[in-house]
Amino acid sequence: MKPRILVSRLVFPEAIERLAEHFEVDYHQEDAPLPPAQLAARLADKQGALTLISDRIDASALAAAPGLKAVCNVAVGYNNLDIEALSRAGIMATNTPGVLDDTTADTAWALLLASARRIVAADKWVRAGQWQGWKFHDDWLGDDVHHATLGILGMGRIGQAVARRAAGFDMRVTYHNRNRLAEAEEAACRAEWVDKETLLRQADFLVLMLPYSPATHHAIGAAELALMKPTAHLINVARGGIVDDAALIEALQHKRIGGAGLDVFENEPALDPRYFALDNVVLTPHIGSSSRATRLKMALLAADNLIAALSGRRPPNLLNPQAFAG
Ligand code: DGY
Repeated sequence: MKPRILVSRLVFPEAIERLAEHFEVDYHQEDAPLPPAQLAARLADKQGALTLISDRIDASALAAAPGLKAVCNVAVGYNNLDIEALSRAGIMATNTPGVLDDTTADTAWALLLASARRIVAADKWVRAGQWQGWKFHDDWLGDDVHHATLGILGMGRIGQAVARRAAGFDMRVTYHNRNRLAEAEEAACRAEWVDKETLLRQADFLVLMLPYSPATHHAIGAAELALMKPTAHLINVARGGIVDDAALIEALQHKRIGGAGLDVFENEPALDPRYFALDNVVLTPHIGSSSRATRLKMALLAADNLIAALSGRRPPNLLNPQAFAG
């Protein structure tokens, strides 16, 4: 008998086909999360699960699933997984690093350029028929990206991909990370390490690339925003909760910073409605990794992790190896 797995949400047929070669697949074929009680009920008789960031997998979700051996997230971020609870239960957890770095870096740049040059507000204005004729000193004077200073907070793979793209804009690249990069990596990104305060004070464009955890909760709040230049733009494609949205809204309302490009929010998708009234912020619906090719790669990588885990092999992207040492 094949092991039983749950795929908690609509993915791609290619991933389901791959999984079906190895498993009996219970597929929740809708692009909406299962309510927690239904998720727990459908996990109860499973050995594995392919989960999305909208599934909270914690001790209560696991309580009724004694046979579960692996939970494989289709995402690089895994703050929806309680890794301690999974480890305590002897369940492997995996994510999908690597395959989405370039796509997410592209999204950061799309938001950065859109915010700098007010592309979205200008588009709305043209569509509303408000353009009466070309002006030299128009209402759309934006901020230059070329030769500006890029600051990256969190310099993992995606942060480095963002940094490498700055070369084409002749930017100075600064970064802050708990661990400094090796010299060769810094050279490849043309990036210089600075302390967090210097990063905030000097950046014309501040890109957040931190994972979300209690330690990074509100890493950017009122105090940090107050350090930024009044012309600086804040870009977040990492996770909601890293930025204190109330503090950012206040800063944008009073034009204390130049603008923001945001793909992630606290309490998604019910973001603070005060954002909607602001024309100095660009808002996108958590689409950082959302290209067709990349989302497919993510689903296939998660499937490969699950196949490895339930075949007694070490999955390529195991997040809790310490729980299985020895
Ligand atoms: C990730 O991979 O963490 C993204 O936020 C979900 O696509």
